[in-house]
Amino acid sequence: MKNLISQLLASAVSSLQSQGVLPDDIQPSIQVEIARDKAHGDFASNLAMTLAKAARMKPRDLAEQLIAALPEHEAISEVSIAGPGFINFFQNRQWLAANLDRALTDPRLAIALAEPQQKVVVDYSSPNLAKEMHVGHLRSTIIGDAVVRVLEHLGHEVVRQNHVGDWGTQFGMLLAYLEEQSVEAEAELADLENFYRQAKQRFDESPEFSDRARERVVQLQAGDKACLALWERFNRISLGHCQAVYDRLGVSLTPADVRGESAYNDKLASIVEALQAKGLLTESQGARCVFLDEFKNAEGNPLPVIIQKAGGGYLYATSDLAAMRYRHEQLHADRVLYFVDQRQALHFQQVFAVARLAGFVPESMQLEHMGFGTMNGADGKPFKTRDGGTVKLVDLLDEAEERAHQLVSQKNPDLDAAELRQIARAVGIGAVKYADLSKHRSSDYNFNFELMLSFEGNTAPYLMYAYTRVASVFRKLDRSMTSVEDLGPMQLEQPAEAELAAHLAQFAQTLEYVAREGTPHVLCHYLYELAGRFSSFYELCPILAAEQPAQKDSRLRLAALTGRTLRQGLTLLGIDTLERM
Ligand code: ARG
Repeated sequence: MKNLISQLLASAVSSLQSQGVLPDDIQPSIQVEIARDKAHGDFASNLAMTLAKAARMKPRDLAEQLIAALPEHEAISEVSIAGPGFINFFQNRQWLAANLDRALTDPRLAIALAEPQQKVVVDYSSPNLAKEMHVGHLRSTIIGDAVVRVLEHLGHEVVRQNHVGDWGTQFGMLLAYLEEQSVEAEAELADLENFYRQAKQRFDESPEFSDRARERVVQLQAGDKACLALWERFNRISLGHCQAVYDRLGVSLTPADVRGESAYNDKLASIVEALQAKGLLTESQGARCVFLDEFKNAEGNPLPVIIQKAGGGYLYATSDLAAMRYRHEQLHADRVLYFVDQRQALHFQQVFAVARLAGFVPESMQLEHMGFGTMNGADGKPFKTRDGGTVKLVDLLDEAEERAHQLVSQKNPDLDAAELRQIARAVGIGAVKYADLSKHRSSDYNFNFELMLSFEGNTAPYLMYAYTRVASVFRKLDRSMTSVEDLGPMQLEQPAEAELAAHLAQFAQTLEYVAREGTPHVLCHYLYELAGRFSSFYELCPILAAEQPAQKDSRLRLAALTGRTLRQGLTLLGIDTLERM
């Protein structure tokens, strides 16, 4: 609605410009707000006040001219002037109600498919396989998966790419250690964290071992059969750990989505050749680099993108260049999104620039680094266990479920044990995911069990509970919220009804925004606001005890659309809803 009103105002401005009422050179920034006092309108704009000076007119006079020049639209029933020159808009409630009635007949809730539909590669999760997944990998996995779901829902073709770090020098150490353990290794590897620590200890203590580890890296990269077999075994186990976490989190990644750094191994030499042929490579201290004018250090000296080390080894950037080429040539991506720590921002700016210069990707292919901040402990300090170790994801999820179990059993002591378990799992996992999703991804955030598990505020339990409230209305009537066609039409009479309806009508544009910006917190915020408006509506407008049957039908329709929108929204965030809790 705000967008629509802005567009109408923009067109009024340009027609006043062509009439010579407003100067041609102004670039108005049009603000449309939801009106606080609904008696004077649903939306308001201060445009006339901001333009009055440039127009050399009184704000109220300009407001009048703007209103006269405003194109008609069926969504708006009335426009008026208030106070010093505000333009107020009344929403056409019949039009709104008719639109929502139409959404109710559609399983997609009238969410149109995107135009054009794109092929979108989403690079997310992408842990380094040397260690077990820890909390640092949580954000990429959860945020990336929510955006993937929204993109797919809008009809885009998504290719998930789990660009795991499976090819670094640390593998020499792990292989050397795995050889020593050969017989019991399978059991040892069950605890990857421990395995890594022990290997590292051996590496630091024994020069003989560390020599062997370095030798293994060279052999591995040269394609030695025995080394490769061991490396594959290690990766299989390590990826199995990751998959278990994805399954538990309800993340849609599968083993088929894994395409790690090693997959590009045999393409790296040709990347170097191509850069060489384009004249982009410079030798610096034996390493081969690309220098780009736009990247300089604090002293103003150019920063290199290192492509190949003096010893011949390749780098993280090299495999990213090869991956971009693959995503263009083989996957035919229109758009590639990278959900990776904000601290890698410079890396991505550099490799994107190099890839474009080298012609590995065409200008038309969008490359976007969707960076995110650090996840800290509740105290705002880096997330660590009490003894200073890294927190394992599995332990964190166990604790979330345990705490949810306690909360739910207190709230609802009559539940049987099996149902309680199921609810605790959904609430615990949902809370962890939602806490992450609901913050702007680019800011750091503090992981706090108490806040995320609260039944009040912008949390998963609050929204899941809001959904069960709607569900219980329909349970009482013994009917489903998905078939309400037999009920009379929606009529928006009370302000609380109109406000809930106006918000319901914003769902499609919210999803479009999330797909464009890669920001699930906008959807979280939308759902939180929806639950709040439903709450006010529920308090002020009795549903089951409505005075007339027509009113009851209409309110049931509003409740049904609210419930279905909440469920659809939470599903797109990767959060399960429950019928009761
Ligand atoms: N494995 C990397 C890390 O944990 C993230 C990889 C992100 N994706 C990419 N194409 N570089 O830091």
